[in-house]
Amino acid sequence: MRIDILTLFPEMFQGPFSAGIFQRAIDRKLVEVDIHNIRDYTHDKHHIVDDYAYGGGAGMVLKPEPIFEAVESVKTAIRNKENLDELPVILLTPQGRLFHQRIARELSSYSHLILICGRYEGVDERVRQHLATDEISIGDYVLGGGELAAMVVTEAMVRLLPGVLGSEESALDDSHAAGLLEYPQYTRPSVYRDWAVPKILLSGDHGQIEKWRREQAILRTLKRRPELLDKADLTSEERKLIEKLRGESSP
Ligand code: 6GU
Repeated sequence: MRIDILTLFPEMFQGPFSAGIFQRAIDRKLVEVDIHNIRDYTHDKHHIVDDYAYGGGAGMVLKPEPIFEAVESVKTAIRNKENLDELPVILLTPQGRLFHQRIARELSSYSHLILICGRYEGVDERVRQHLATDEISIGDYVLGGGELAAMVVTEAMVRLLPGVLGSEESALDDSHAAGLLEYPQYTRPSVYRDWAVPKILLSGDHGQIEKWRREQAILRTLKRRPELLDKADLTSEERKLIEKLRGESSP
């Protein structure tokens, strides 16, 4: 997978992309991340990337020209032009569709993506209309720009690529993988400050352990994120159990 990220702050990406699963994925050539400075695509002496908003109002707006040219330059550099039409060009903006594990999975199937980090008060609307194929937000709060969001989206995608995670850290059991939160985890010591690990986990009975974990995942989801259960992957018995528990907890 190749990810090209367009930003006004390339230095923000240095730390996160040079540690942990990213570094490993890059070293193993499972992913290539190229950071481009939008400012390099200006032609004026002062490398101006923003301007006042037409119609007035506070705040600067990112100009369209350098963003279009940066995207076009990335596209020109691609050798394999066959799939250019389906190359996602994603604008990170608080107005985008809300990011979700499902979207991470969907995006991780592309061999190439372009991410554009918005900044300032906004981005010229023509970038949305005629350049971006998708817009993503990572939550209902405001960040100074799309950079952290691009890192979030990139990390969520990259860890789903085959070979990035070792089998010991498989993505299958993750919270949200089956639409449920993850079950409680314990490691040694079996008793810490009088707090014992649930006995079942020490029993060696893998069937019972699986059953316990599944129940815990459902209970935890019911308690903390009940809205997730409607879309979760559940058996009919599990659905019945949830209805029963819901009935018991309501007055
Ligand atoms: Cl993608 N950008 C900005 N600026 N703020 C955000 C966001 C993105 N997602 C949530 N808040």
